[in-house]
Amino acid sequence: MRELNKLFENNRDWVKERLDQDPEYFERQTTEQKPQYLWIGCSDSRILANQIIGLDAGELFVHRNIANLFLHTDFNSLSVLQYAVDFLKVRHVIICGHYGCGGVKVAMENEQHGLVDNWLRNIRDICAREKAELDAIPDSTKRYERLVELNVIYQTLNVCHTTVVQNAWARKQPISVHGWVYDMRSGLLNDLDCCVSGIAQIEETYRTKKLH
Ligand code: CO
Repeated sequence: MRELNKLFENNRDWVKERLDQDPEYFERQTTEQKPQYLWIGCSDSRILANQIIGLDAGELFVHRNIANLFLHTDFNSLSVLQYAVDFLKVRHVIICGHYGCGGVKVAMENEQHGLVDNWLRNIRDICAREKAELDAIPDSTKRYERLVELNVIYQTLNVCHTTVVQNAWARKQPISVHGWVYDMRSGLLNDLDCCVSGIAQIEETYRTKKLH
């Protein structure tokens, strides 16, 4: 623990700073959380999810993994979504990728990186499926950026294809699913305009209904 003393020091400084600005800050955090947004983003250490969209503690429910994937076999992200939708009643689910994503880059190359390759295989599948569009982009940086965007679009649809989101829509609980990309070079967000707010926007193959 001795090695991490600096972090505890930082923590005490942060508490002091917060209390100087707002003496009731921590007291207020003890009430139930009521976030309006679920953030599904990359684990990349350069992305400060709350800060880049100006949200304070209690305002953003967060799930992060390598390359911001949302897979129908991953109980971790599925549980986060279910809890966020059914219990916290978030209004918006945001899938946020980022340009310069190492996970997406690895998925474009043919070298092995160990266990993580199995996780990133999902992006490799997107590469294969969108080969025609990607191959038509001559500039390799632009091609890489487009794959970052396509990955976000696919994950956005994966969220919409869950029974969690579709059941919420069926009971008229408003939920919109958004796809964004964060640009670390400028700090700005790029809205991919792929927002989905209802079952009508979903391909018929992926529509499901509860049997009563
Ligand atoms: Co990343």
